[in-house]
Amino acid sequence: MSTNNLFSPFNLKTLNLKNRIVMAPMTRSFSPNGVPTDEVAAYYQKRAEGEVGLILSEGTVIDRPSSSNDANVPHFYGDLALNGWKKVIEEVHAAGGQMGPQIWHMGIMDNHHSGWVPPVPFEGPSGLNRPDFRNGVTMTEKDIEDTILAFGKAAADAKRLGFDTIEIHGAHGYLIDQFFRAETNLREDIYGGKTLPERNRFAIEVIKEIRKQVGNDFAVIMRFSQFKPSDYNYKLAKNPKELEAWLTPLVDAGVDIIHASQRRFWEPEFEESDLNFAGWAKKVTGAPTITVGSVGLSGDFFGAFAGESSEPTSLEELNRRFDRGDFDLVAVGRPLLSDPNWVAKIKAGKTDELKGFSKEALGALVLE
Ligand SMILES: Cc1cc2nc3c(=O)[nH]c(=O)nc-3n(C[C@H](O)[C@H](O)[C@H](O)COP(=O)(O)O)c2cc1C
Repeated sequence: MSTNNLFSPFNLKTLNLKNRIVMAPMTRSFSPNGVPTDEVAAYYQKRAEGEVGLILSEGTVIDRPSSSNDANVPHFYGDLALNGWKKVIEEVHAAGGQMGPQIWHMGIMDNHHSGWVPPVPFEGPSGLNRPDFRNGVTMTEKDIEDTILAFGKAAADAKRLGFDTIEIHGAHGYLIDQFFRAETNLREDIYGGKTLPERNRFAIEVIKEIRKQVGNDFAVIMRFSQFKPSDYNYKLAKNPKELEAWLTPLVDAGVDIIHASQRRFWEPEFEESDLNFAGWAKKVTGAPTITVGSVGLSGDFFGAFAGESSEPTSLEELNRRFDRGDFDLVAVGRPLLSDPNWVAKIKAGKTDELKGFSKEALGALVLE
């Protein structure tokens, strides 16, 4: 099994990565009252020591009173939380890594199983998390304006603290994705519309504000998914033409790299070819892309939430697609929860030492 090409450098604006492997953003809920602890910093530093090319943080929420449904998800605002993040990036840099926070607003959510609720109701384009599930309020134009500014502020803070990039979370049914999706965006103002390009408006304004704050030379990544956690087969774009009409204006607004989230990277996105989501996103926009989804593992991540473990699998199919030029970077999630040295082991060809993913890794910050 040759993985040589995955270990070639990647350079774009502020990113100078030693290899093509990205740690996927993964919520850990180990930041009490939204403040990342020293243990959180050590957790990311271990992945940098383990030769991850680019670390994307767990989703970290912007300064809106109901941007989160979980008291232990980190904030990306306020002195205490930002000091915690400063420590994170300093330790990652000291270990030779690069990193960006995944900037997040959850939008309309289910209440968290802990019973914790934010001080004000959840907010979203139309109060809906999915069809027929209302759990919050419809944002006013002032709410939207303030939220766009809060995204921009988070990006500016990321740059000021020394992060190398940021990722905007536009996937998985959260706030930005609620604007994209017709069934959760019933607005009749400029933020709604019958077509997906019309419903892009909120995302475009977020991207433009972020770009204004960080300047042109700072790398900005944005994550998208067709699937929703409540509907794995959902497709915002039903064919390559619709995909182009969706993503091109977002790239034009200032996204440098598209992170195309899939549960299983080998699944074709459309009938026309075997290209996956990242492959098509690259083809229709010309932008570099990140693929993700069960790389090196036998089961997918929704299985992980249902308590399933996964075994290591070969990277042959991944390499075939990578060598063909389908995508530029490869994000890996669960293997890096269980094993900070997953990348170093792949690089050294020590595949017999790979651990796979065990559900116990969800309940701890594994440091060894
Ligand atoms: C515990 C856990 C938490 C996650 N949290 C996030 C998150 O905060 N933001 C996000 O975009 N995706 C999140 N995901 C999805 C991962 O980024 C990734 O796309 C998914 O796990 C598939 O990659 P894998 O098969 O390599 O694990 C999470 C996944 C897991 C397992």
